[in-house]
Amino acid sequence: MTSGEKSPGHPSHEVHSPKNTAILDTRLRRFIYRPDRLAEKYVKPGGRVLDIGCGPGFFTREFAKRVGENGQVFSVDLQEEMLDILRKKLGPDGLLPRITTHRCAPDSLDLPADLNGTFDTAFAIFVVHEVPDPERLFREISMLLKPGGTFFYSDPPFVVSGGEFRDNLALAEKAGLRLAERRFYFVNRAAVLRKE
Ligand SMILES: C[S@@+](CC[C@H](N)C(=O)[O-])C[C@H]1O[C@@H](n2cnc3c(N)ncnc32)[C@H](O)[C@@H]1O
Repeated sequence: MTSGEKSPGHPSHEVHSPKNTAILDTRLRRFIYRPDRLAEKYVKPGGRVLDIGCGPGFFTREFAKRVGENGQVFSVDLQEEMLDILRKKLGPDGLLPRITTHRCAPDSLDLPADLNGTFDTAFAIFVVHEVPDPERLFREISMLLKPGGTFFYSDPPFVVSGGEFRDNLALAEKAGLRLAERRFYFVNRAAVLRKE
């Protein structure tokens, strides 16, 4: 699937264009979403993190800083152009040795089975509404996490209704991810789930 194409599961929502990444990495967004605090709360030094739909790396940067030299962030995106931008942006910060970039398929993360059960935390931030099969995505995340691992899911309320978000949480629970915390503020619907 290329940018601008519509996801079959969410006909009104398009895959974010790599030509429009500036809006994903602004000072205002940094101030509102505080990726540094998110990393501090949910990422452990030395941990293994999955950043699904990483885009140009707005959150990846803080996750990579937080895991430190002994940790690893897997940044996964559907579009190679996004991964290219991420590598160019985070290279000068010396963070690339802690980051593995991986291009996935539209309907699968397509990660090797030997990575199952190896991640401490998975993030899917502002991406699930672009994914054609969220149920499959949640099943894959559940398999990739260690038991007790954390899944942080968020989608923008101006795109995803409360009902759609709840439906997605139900799909995640069906995949073995138990709701631990639910948050809502005007720019974000977010939930923290734990792998059973
Ligand atoms: C709105 S951007 C969000 C980027 C980043 N998470 C952030 O909040 O700054 C959504 C990203 O998800 C990616 N994406 C869309 N569909 C995807 C899929 N099926 N699997 C993985 N990534 C996908 C897009 O290429 C894009 O980079």
